[in-house]
Amino acid sequence: MLIILQLILLVLAILVLLWLIFLLSPALFGGQPFVPTDYNVVKQMIKLASIKAGDMVVDLGSGDGRILLAAVQMGAQSIGYEINPGLVWYSRFKLWQSHVGSRAKVYNKNFWPADLSRASVVTVYGFSTLMPRLAQKLRRELKPGSRVVSFHYQFGDWSAQTRIGQVYLYKV
Ligand SMILES: C[S@@+](CC[C@H](N)C(=O)[O-])C[C@H]1O[C@@H](n2cnc3c(N)ncnc32)[C@H](O)[C@@H]1O
Repeated sequence: MLIILQLILLVLAILVLLWLIFLLSPALFGGQPFVPTDYNVVKQMIKLASIKAGDMVVDLGSGDGRILLAAVQMGAQSIGYEINPGLVWYSRFKLWQSHVGSRAKVYNKNFWPADLSRASVVTVYGFSTLMPRLAQKLRRELKPGSRVVSFHYQFGDWSAQTRIGQVYLYKV
């Protein structure tokens, strides 16, 4: 009986430790804190970018993978770059549970050095001060006609084609 109690306490202690690592990850690994996009907003992003079969969707800072999964459910392929290893493994688990196979991939990498030239759609949320630098990278690397969907933050000198609430669609 005592051993079972000790085992339960050990498992609880490990879970608390993992949760603390998860919360402290931005401080440990850099990047911004994980603030997930609301699922209704994810739907708006998918709709605004008209994501469909044949698209290659890249989410910059893919968090728990919710945009990657939503894109695959529309028939697209998706790639996420995420700097926080806790979120990388969590999103990989979620994608595995959803049986998406190789249609979605998550790289535990900083997105700045990533080559985005294969993307037909790029999604982004959470980089207010970084938008000017990101605009330059997207202009340099994306094919003409690629779509960029940003939640909450706008690209200063780009004009959005259209918007739904705080979701902005740009064409490169
Ligand atoms: C605001 S959250 C958005 C998460 C997800 N895209 C969503 O919409 O639910 C931003 C994410 O970007 C990640 N991140 C920040 N800087 C990054 C970088 N340079 N490379 C890769 N991931 C980064 C953070 O760890 C965080 O999970």
